[in-house]
Amino acid sequence: MDIELRIRRYNPEADQAPHWETYAVTADATDRVLDLLHQVKWHTDGTLTFRRSCAHGVCGSDAVLINGQNRLACQVLVRDVAPTVSVEPVAGLPVIKDLLVDMEGFWAKYRAAMPYLVNDDVPADGLERRQSAADRDLYEDTSRCILCAACTTACPVFWTNPDYVGPAAIVNAHRFIFDSRDTAHEERLELMADADGVWRCRTVFNCVEACPRGINITRAILEVTRQITNVEAT
Ligand code: SF4
Ligand code: FES
Repeated sequence: MDIELRIRRYNPEADQAPHWETYAVTADATDRVLDLLHQVKWHTDGTLTFRRSCAHGVCGSDAVLINGQNRLACQVLVRDVAPTVSVEPVAGLPVIKDLLVDMEGFWAKYRAAMPYLVNDDVPADGLERRQSAADRDLYEDTSRCILCAACTTACPVFWTNPDYVGPAAIVNAHRFIFDSRDTAHEERLELMADADGVWRCRTVFNCVEACPRGINITRAILEVTRQITNVEAT
């Protein structure tokens, strides 16, 4: 099928401002939008810049806006967005070049959420930290995050207040706050209770809509706020 592919281009060394460029490409209906970007990069203009790695919805590196919606380019089938496909960088993060955004601020918030297990105690049997299936279920949903940033960059609160910790960092804090083996959940809750933490969420649900993993992000945020309230009440 014939596709009119529109890509928002920006080269900081040559352009005053971003602009749209249009490419005529031919694709199979079951090709992905990432294949369209590859066609342009490999056959038309090698300077087109974007991130991608796995091409199978696992690494989270190719989040972009496709026809105005936050999506992974490797997951969206051409037939679902044809015949005119627009691709632009995610919103709210500085554009480095074309579709490539500066993720450093995003990673800083992720790191600040302590996204790792804290436990210096020796396990009861000296070998492993056991956990029931029911306890494991408490953070099953948030453990599936691939750090694509689609949620945070779809959030209007983040657009207006870049200091807001954002849904992705909260999801990754949730993953360890609700892990029965972890011993630092109060520290994490304190971080999330900060003025730019969970209270900034306005339950707009853009994050849920944007998440390629189908994580119920708003529920995770509410569960973290409930935990903060419970700890403050004790
Ligand atoms: S919660 Fe979903 S949208 Fe947000 S970073 Fe993780 S995988 Fe991406
Ligand atoms: S390239 Fe890895 S998720 Fe799309």
